[in-house]
Amino acid sequence: MGKLQLLCIFLISIGLSFQASPVFDCFPEPNGASQVSCEARGCTWQPDSSNKNVPWCIFKDGVGYSLDSQSGSTYTLRKNNGPKNPWGSDALEIKVTTKSIGNILNVHIGQAGRYEPPVDFPKDVASSSETLSFKTDTTNGLFSFQIVRDSSYRKLFDTSLGGLIFSDKFIQLATYLPSSNMYGWGENTHQSLKHDFSKYLTWAMFARDQPPNSGSLDTVNLYGVHPYYMIVEPDGKAHGVLIVNSNAQEVTTAPGPSIIYRTIGGNLDIYFFPGPTPEQVTQQYLKFIGTPFLPAYWALGYQLSRYGYTGLDEMKTRIQAVKDAGIPIDIGVADIDYMQRYKDFTTGDNWAGFSDYVNQMHASGMKLILIFDPAVEADYDSFQRALSANAKFIEWESSSQVQRDIQNLYPMAKDTKIMLGVVWPDKHVGFPDFLDSTGNTQKWWASEFVRYQKEIGFDGIWIDMNEPSNFGTNDAHPWYFDSDDHPNDAPLFCPTNGSNEWEMPPYKTRAVWKFGDASNNAFLASNTLCMLGVQDNGAQRFYNVKNLYGWSEAKATQQALFQSTGKRGAVVSRSTYPSSGKYAGHWLGDNTARWEDLRTSVIGAQEFNLFGIPYVGSDVCGFIGTTTEELCLRWQQMGAFHSFFRNHNTIGAPAQDPAIWPTVAAATKQANLFRYQYLPYLFSLHFTASKDGATVIRPLFFEFPTDEETYDLGYQFMWGSSILVAPVVYQNTNSVHVYLPTDVWYSLFDYKYGSLISPGFTTVSAPTTSRIPVFVRGMSIIPRQTPTITTTATRLNPFELLIAPCEMGRGKGVLYWDDGETIVNSFNTHNYHQFDFLFNTTTTGGRLTITHSRKASNINLPTLDIIEIFNFPNAPDFKSFTINNIKTNINVQTSTYSGVTKRLYIQTTGLINLTSADTIILEWSNAAKAVKVDLSNPEKLAALENNKYELF
Ligand code: NOJ
Repeated sequence: MGKLQLLCIFLISIGLSFQASPVFDCFPEPNGASQVSCEARGCTWQPDSSNKNVPWCIFKDGVGYSLDSQSGSTYTLRKNNGPKNPWGSDALEIKVTTKSIGNILNVHIGQAGRYEPPVDFPKDVASSSETLSFKTDTTNGLFSFQIVRDSSYRKLFDTSLGGLIFSDKFIQLATYLPSSNMYGWGENTHQSLKHDFSKYLTWAMFARDQPPNSGSLDTVNLYGVHPYYMIVEPDGKAHGVLIVNSNAQEVTTAPGPSIIYRTIGGNLDIYFFPGPTPEQVTQQYLKFIGTPFLPAYWALGYQLSRYGYTGLDEMKTRIQAVKDAGIPIDIGVADIDYMQRYKDFTTGDNWAGFSDYVNQMHASGMKLILIFDPAVEADYDSFQRALSANAKFIEWESSSQVQRDIQNLYPMAKDTKIMLGVVWPDKHVGFPDFLDSTGNTQKWWASEFVRYQKEIGFDGIWIDMNEPSNFGTNDAHPWYFDSDDHPNDAPLFCPTNGSNEWEMPPYKTRAVWKFGDASNNAFLASNTLCMLGVQDNGAQRFYNVKNLYGWSEAKATQQALFQSTGKRGAVVSRSTYPSSGKYAGHWLGDNTARWEDLRTSVIGAQEFNLFGIPYVGSDVCGFIGTTTEELCLRWQQMGAFHSFFRNHNTIGAPAQDPAIWPTVAAATKQANLFRYQYLPYLFSLHFTASKDGATVIRPLFFEFPTDEETYDLGYQFMWGSSILVAPVVYQNTNSVHVYLPTDVWYSLFDYKYGSLISPGFTTVSAPTTSRIPVFVRGMSIIPRQTPTITTTATRLNPFELLIAPCEMGRGKGVLYWDDGETIVNSFNTHNYHQFDFLFNTTTTGGRLTITHSRKASNINLPTLDIIEIFNFPNAPDFKSFTINNIKTNINVQTSTYSGVTKRLYIQTTGLINLTSADTIILEWSNAAKAVKVDLSNPEKLAALENNKYELF
């Protein structure tokens, strides 16, 4: 091959993915541009009917900054003479500063003194074998920078695309990307795992109480904000990028492939994580933002919830029905119905005896999760106690702004600047300020939970409506005026006159326009509080920190949970931001009982694992609308593989717990038993995620990053590195067309259980009566336990190991085990066991080595009684088993080997006491082979003695 050919290949692999140059939209406002309005902005009118959403009004070339000077790693940029920003005055001077945090590269673009999100990332560093370099370019007088992977010279980020704009309330940064295999950004409903760069799509990011729409492509903003993405480069290496900015924002994915990111405040604080594997990117990201909390063991159990229980009796009846159907269940969940007229920390009249019932639940090994909304009614004791404790609420900036018609109704609030809004309670509500830097608010919040937990002994906390959601902002006739269950409280009105810089900034983002009308009178406070509000005694503007509300509430609520229960429990939050996973899990919100929603849930759970929130799941069977027997059955089967596993339903919809239909009950029982059996593995994955930073559920490309077939397999996923799940997500289907990447795979479900399944695309049978397709990867050792009706009871059952050997007959795995509920302050001091397993198929038999790598005190473990090995080549001599060279008895009544399936199943009560030695070696020999031996030959005779040949 000549030099030229080599160069060509190099260029193809490095540069040519940067094809068509994207254009910059100069008129994204919803009322559409015309040639006149476009040219009035100084932009170019270029109609394009290609049907790729190409903007018609585009910026002229040359938008950007030029390099003024450089001092060390700080570059001073000056606004050039190119086109001006139509949405505010361009900052004349901005600075670009770079630094390294381990192998993470940070690029900060902006001005000192501007708003930065008050989020306390630990910024810990996970090691990487790869380094990144920051390069600059000034071609045509425009400053641009590139992030280059040193090992491959690939440009991971390349702003030579131009378009850099920086003004007070409009910032734009654009970059070419090294490949279109991009994942992440949120929270949005993605119908495919991988982004689509074939057309222009603008994804809105602004926390909003907004049910996901899976029925059609919809780029609307949902509950949380995650300015984070991962890219798999053409050679299979991956990197991650986080933009720390908490303002209303959006990203346009455009041909090139490229992205155009816009935000309306703060600075651009960008972090590049070098990977090079997707899982390493995640580890680096999570160490940096904070690794996810470890859920209590019981929190991995099955949860039954609904909105609209008429009272405690109905909750009891439905839970009992599920139990009577033999379905493993751990958690009862009560929605706002349990409260006295939707007031936090109160119990409603139809819930008399709740406390006794919770005691019964506890006695039967079950737990209770209660919902709490952030907004607190402005006229009862909890609110009064908040004021007495100097707790803060989101406030108006000055007394003159206070909406007097509301404020004067409430003696407790009358003389405050608390911004009162409307949520579920009958009267107006205040929104606690969880960014209060005095800590008074957080302390009061915790004390309310401590007080209430003494009344109703909840174990976990569900926090909802924390975008924060406010009903009917600026709406003269809000929806609740037509509700029988809500008084006509005066709605909150935020000033939206044209000059209001917070409510009506020059550029409002797609998130806001989506909810305005055609005349563009959209305002940022839609469905929430007024942007001009302040927090932390005026130090923070709601306009900037709104997207952090759920994050800050989760942080305060985790402390409240710890203080009120003394245990680690679990918190789930609707609104999230990077590092929310450290404090809470997430459910994917108010989905609809449709097949499309089942499908987007499979994708959503994978995305939230990328975001560092692995305790995630969807409302199983669908929240809005009436589910069907088949959909509910399939959703139960799929949901059994999500860490947060809850059947939840909206008010007024027919009951949909699995006991409603015998078929769904049977399928759920089967799916839940499987889940409960494999919980030691799922728990160990969560343990690793919390301790070291990792995903629990992960897309297939995480494990097979050079296999392009895995790049967009949204409906299949992995549990860690060992188990592959391919749920049924289409109606009227009894099979799944599954892709198994090149490796050794065994079936772990009804279809050919325990057999080798060839890699590639294959259609496997999955009738409703079978488990959904699950496969285990060669080289794995999976800890599990004999399952029963609660996790509490299952934890007492014997351990089992499933060994799925690779081609060489080996396997490895790990089990983490603690008491399941102690708060983890630090993994250095946490009381837990770690066991590492290694398996070898030897020429003469088998050997399992168990290393007790970390010892806990006072945590008793069941014995390891069952070892199941797939594809074991030889029949064992059941009399030959030894543990650390001492002969051990194997129960031959319950242990089997099949020469046909090659499945070895060893079951003996009390076989291995896991804590009996630092290293435990279980060994055995193959059964004697039947051979003919010439007894007159002394050599053969000796062989007979040595090898224990059997005579026949
Ligand atoms: C909205 C939540 O998303 C939903 O899950 C809940 O049932 C209702 N609020 C009522 O609390």
